[in-house]
Amino acid sequence: MRKKNAGIWGTGSYLPEKVVTNRDLEQITDTSDEWIVERTGIRERRAAADHQATSDLATQAALRALEAAGVSPEQLDLIIVATVTPDMFFPSTACLVQKNIGAVNSAAFDLSAACSGFLYGMTIGSQFIRNGVFQKVLVIGAECFSRIIDWDDRGTNALFGDGAGAVVLGEVSEGYGILGLDLGADGRDGALLSVPAGGSREPATAETIEQRRHFLQMNGKEVFKFAVKIIGESVNRAVEDAGLDLSDISWLLPHQANVRIIQAAAKRLGFPEEKVLVNIDRVGNTSAASIPILLDENARNGRFEDGDRLAMVGFGAGSTWAAAVHRWCPNHRVQ
Ligand code: UT7
Repeated sequence: MRKKNAGIWGTGSYLPEKVVTNRDLEQITDTSDEWIVERTGIRERRAAADHQATSDLATQAALRALEAAGVSPEQLDLIIVATVTPDMFFPSTACLVQKNIGAVNSAAFDLSAACSGFLYGMTIGSQFIRNGVFQKVLVIGAECFSRIIDWDDRGTNALFGDGAGAVVLGEVSEGYGILGLDLGADGRDGALLSVPAGGSREPATAETIEQRRHFLQMNGKEVFKFAVKIIGESVNRAVEDAGLDLSDISWLLPHQANVRIIQAAAKRLGFPEEKVLVNIDRVGNTSAASIPILLDENARNGRFEDGDRLAMVGFGAGSTWAAAVHRWCPNHRVQ
């Protein structure tokens, strides 16, 4: 049977209203706006309101993506939520979103691949469409890192933000949509970035809380080195998988973790900086939500032209990484 082509029909994103500036962080820990901007490129990030959890952010992004795609919730066959900050262990955040939007005909599950989660999700979702098993798949990256970072740790509290981004995948014409993919993982690096306690290995106790082991812990320097190396490697593999050359890529959408990582990786890759999209100054690192938020903002501001080739690349805890080459296809949906 001929494989179908899977691509993005519509995008959506949502950022909670509350803005946390670097000046706000100066009130909590011994840091400065200058240090944070110079070392990370981040000026502010968003934090979910007290009554909001990851599924609430995901729901808003999902509704916007459905509207942009012209797809109703009932038409969805599958919802994948990439997150490492689910509302709770179970039910899955995807099931909570399914209920919120009334996607009564869809299957739903969560996916854990940290900052690479959205591209893992897009890879999985697109396979169902390629094989003709499903017609419409909603892939969401959504996080509330404000709930797992130690606000008293200046080494990590400036880096992360809350938000959600989503895409609706459907069939597109030959030569459009997802053209190339790369997925990878190296579990040997797991300790570089983790939340050690609160799971089945170290259930939450007064002691784990006192030792702050239920918060995110990170070896920033090692993650930095890994990121700069893997971005180029993974993009190159996805471009090759698409049968293209790096010079065919119109825009690079890298995971937004640190502007210095993005600049160093683009330089190493030999990719022009003016074609690298960045929004980290306003949103910080939103983990699985990072790439779909960047994608949605640029889709909505008219940056992409029909036929543009986008290279998206993520990396994160696990370690995991993923890249996708996608040919922009608003006029090439197969109804
Ligand atoms: O999605 C993936 C998630 N994670 C990442 O991508 C993180 C990757 N790593 C990074 O982005 C960087 O390593 C950081 C931004 C985390 C740190 O930047 P760095 O240039 O590697 O700084 P450093 O850790 O080497 O720290 C340099 C100095 C240290 O002081 P001493 O020991 O030299 O006296 C830190 O204590 O800066 C100090 N420092 C700070 N100072 C002011 C660390 N954080 C802060 C802070 N404000 N917020």
